[in-house]
Parts: sequence; structure tokens; C-alpha cells
Amino acid sequence: MAVSDWKKSVVYQVYPKSFNDSTGDGTGDIRGIIEKLDYLAFLGVDYIWLTPVYESPMRDNGYDISNYYEINPEFGTKEDLKALMDEAHEKGLKVMLDLAFNHTSTAHPWFVESKKSKDNPYRDYYIWKDGTYDSPPTSWESKFGGNAWQYDDNTNQYYLRLFDVTQADLNWDNEKVRSEIYEMINYWIDFGVDGFRFDVVNLLSKGEFKDSDGPGKEFYTDGPRIHEYIHEMNRRTFGGKEIMTVGEMSSTTIDHCIKYTAPEREELNSVFNFHHLKVDYPGGEKWTDASYDFILLKETLMKWQLGIHEGNGWNAIFWCNHDQPRVVSRFGKDDTEENRVRSAKMLAISLHGLQGTPYIYQGEEIGMTNPGFSRIDQYRDVETLNAYDILREKGYSYQQVMDILKKKSRDNARTPMQWDGSPHAGFTDGEPWIETAPNYPEINAEKAVADETSVFYTYKKLIEMRHEMEILTSGDIRPMLMKDRNLFVYERTLDGESLLVIANYSDKYVAWPEEVARDGEVLISNYDVKDNELRPFEALMIYRK
Ligand code: GLC
Repeated sequence: MAVSDWKKSVVYQVYPKSFNDSTGDGTGDIRGIIEKLDYLAFLGVDYIWLTPVYESPMRDNGYDISNYYEINPEFGTKEDLKALMDEAHEKGLKVMLDLAFNHTSTAHPWFVESKKSKDNPYRDYYIWKDGTYDSPPTSWESKFGGNAWQYDDNTNQYYLRLFDVTQADLNWDNEKVRSEIYEMINYWIDFGVDGFRFDVVNLLSKGEFKDSDGPGKEFYTDGPRIHEYIHEMNRRTFGGKEIMTVGEMSSTTIDHCIKYTAPEREELNSVFNFHHLKVDYPGGEKWTDASYDFILLKETLMKWQLGIHEGNGWNAIFWCNHDQPRVVSRFGKDDTEENRVRSAKMLAISLHGLQGTPYIYQGEEIGMTNPGFSRIDQYRDVETLNAYDILREKGYSYQQVMDILKKKSRDNARTPMQWDGSPHAGFTDGEPWIETAPNYPEINAEKAVADETSVFYTYKKLIEMRHEMEILTSGDIRPMLMKDRNLFVYERTLDGESLLVIANYSDKYVAWPEEVARDGEVLISNYDVKDNELRPFEALMIYRK
């Protein structure tokens, strides 16, 4: 499929550290991914996106890059990456790399230099500001907790770090920084990659450095020169080439996302936004164990669907990634095998009817669940460990914090991919860097592929439909029954064709709504035959012409 077909493509996200270990050291690697290419080709996806595999101290599992031009030896070598790309291409798969350049690791040589003195030629590669020992330059908060400025007593200044203390924000207003990054992007284009995911790319342009009543997001989110920088990057690197791009957008708006993706603006192909995954953050607070707001979920998804469609932009559509809990545990139900399978399929069907490029995160296609960790020593993620300290300091009991992390920690997505029923789910012959979810004897890829009624085949079918049905790509969307407390319903339409998507998000029986016609051909569903009512977690796509 050519890049011009990226609107019909489906992307599979691989988190290399947890995907497949070929060496027995307990950490996944590039050779391990090569071993599983047949599996991915059989699933039918078009692209695989690898989260960062470059040299890194791995404080944030690779999003803290210390050398953009080398592969982290834990993952393998450049030859391995080349082999992965060659073998993927032979099987009709394309490979996207992930680039984080809002920040580098503080172990990056640029930062090591920058830190040395105020007149170092690299000083201006990062954002250094005055402050006093106990009073940082602004009140901004780090996304991983605490103030966003880190004091350095060598030069008595602070550097900005919107994420971990070892992730120093680059100064994009410095033309030299931009040129270095463009050169590096071109290096990977010449290397032969087929696309990029750009990490938190809407945070590059910082505006004024002022105190804020909140965390300070308004000063650097979709900042004053952001569109200029992304357009410049497009022109000087991937623009006009067969390269698919997706930008991760933090706390963004529909208007900005239209600008990022409207083709005539020459910025990016597509964007991720996260508003629909904040529906279990009451009052904007992630660290609670609150259940999710179903009406808000529908409203948010539909607002974005309609807004982006109207503005001629392009969304990525997704439930899961390496930063999010498993969707079946979050918006479905994983208490019994029956509920797990039904709700995982229902979530897949109701998402894959939307407009945008669908993303599947490793293990989602077999309905993997949160692992249910109950002790802090089971967690590895830097954000989670920070949150633990902060919540404990605020006076939460150990048990309360465990209940929250069990639902919200990023490690819920990062446990080893469950390949089969052998020890550690067949992920490694050694000791995995993070524990495997205990349910791997029942939930694994080998079992799923062997059973044509499994979640895997629902995903496989949805991918085929995406490739074949123009209505899924370009049809209009009409939200229905937005106030209904159980059902998520919408209709896609194109040139006299209609595709109705109806999904019961509850574990109860719900009468078929009068407003919704029942005739037509059922193209996909998670139950055998159409009934007078919608059964627990039932979902269907019905086609009419
Ligand atoms: C993105 C990544 C996340 C990382 C952060 C900082 O949100 O998805 O994993 O921690 O950026 O790079």
C-alpha cells in the first residue's frame, strides 16, 4: 500500500521492550520483533510503529534519547533494524520509527556540554532561566509531577524539563537545534523508514515564561510558533516523500489538529489526541480510581469526529498505547472470560467504525487485560513511581495508592506480550524485566489464532473492512442516541450507502431502540444472530444500500 493510501492503513504499535525477547536477557529486542512478523502479517496490519529504540539511559524506556543515530544495544544493532525493515517489506509491512525531540536525555552530549557553563556553544540548545535556589523561574508543573524546572548548582540556573528530570526540553527557537533535528530525521529517511510517530510534538514551541494558576500548559501547548516549526520540518525533511507521519498531541484542540493535518498546510498526516481517554479523570485528575463517564466518552469522540471531518483534518483512532491502561479492563469488563471476550470485541467494533487511521497496541488484538499488580515493587514506570511518592506524601494510604495504580499506571500496558502458555507467556527464556500478567495461560496469541471465534479474528476482520470499504475511510458520520446510558450508536454514510454501528457498553440486556432501523446486512458482530434486544456488550455493524 502506498503512503497515499495511509487513510486506509491500520497501524500496529510495538513496544519493543515488552514484545519478544530473542536473547533471554528478559528485555524484548529487534530480532524478537522479526520472529513475529508472520503473526503481524497474518493479522493484516499495514504499518508497525516501534517506540524509541535509540541509545538511551532508559529512565523513560527510550523516550529519553542520548544518541539519535545509534540503536540501544539492549534492542540490538542498526543491522538488526535494517533486517527488520527488509523482512517487513517482503511481507508487505511498513515500519515507522518514533522520535522524541521535545527533549533529550540529560545524558545526550548536547546537554552534557550545555550544562558546563553559561557561555558554552550548546547552552542555547536547552532552556535555561534564572531563579533562586528555592524559587524556580515559573510555577509550571512537570507532567510527571513536581515543578518543571530543575536547579543546577554549577551555573546557578534552572533548565526546563516538562517530563522527567533527565528529560531536558530542547530550545526549538534556536535555529541550530531545528537544523540538527531535521538532519537526523533525514538520516532515518535515507535509512529507509516508512514513517514516523513524533512524540509530544505540539509542545515544541514555548511561549512566554510566566507563572500560571494551573500546571502552566497554556504557555507551551500548541505554542506561538508551533505551526511554523512543523511546516518547516515537513519542508526540510519528509514533505513530498512516501513517509507517513503522526504527531502525538498533548492537551490540544480540534482547531489546532485541523491545522496540523489539513493537507494544504503541509504539516503532518495525522494526529493523536487524548481527550477521549480522560473520561476517567474526574476534574482533570488522573490519579484516582474513579470509573469512567460513558456519556462524556461518546460526546468527546463525536465532537472530534465531526470537527476533524468538517475541517478536512485527519485523526488517529485508538484505545490503547504504552501510556494507557488496557481498554478491556477500562471501558469493558474482564471479570469473566465471557465478559472479557465480548467486551473486547465490542470495543474494537465500536472504535473501528470511526473515521481516522486505526491503531492497535500489542496485545489489544487478543484482549489482554491489566495485570492487577498489588505491590509497589511490581511497578517499573518512572511516572508511576513519582505518582506513588506524591500520593503517599499527600496522605493516601498504601492500599489506596495501589488501588489507583492498578487502574491508571502505564505499566498496565507494558507487561510482556502474551504469546503462549509457556513460562512468562513465551516472551522470554530468562526473567522478564516486568512481571507477566498471571492470566497468560488463558489469554495468549497462540490460543487466539487457533480459535476462529477469538478477539483476534474480530480485529482481523475489522482491518480487512478498513482496507475494502470506502465508507469507513471517507463516509460522513452521524451520532445517534447521544444521551443513551448504555448504547453507543452512529451511522456512517456515503453516496447512498449506510453503515450503522451499534454497541451496548453495558453487561445488561437493552431493548433495541425504536429510532434505529434493524434491517440490513450484518457485516460484523460479536454474537451469532441478530436479536430483538442487544445482549451484554453486543456490537454490530449493519450495512444498507
Ligand atoms: C509521550 C510518550 C510517553 C513519554 C512522554 C515523554 O507521551 O508516549 O511514553 O513518557 O511522551 O517523552
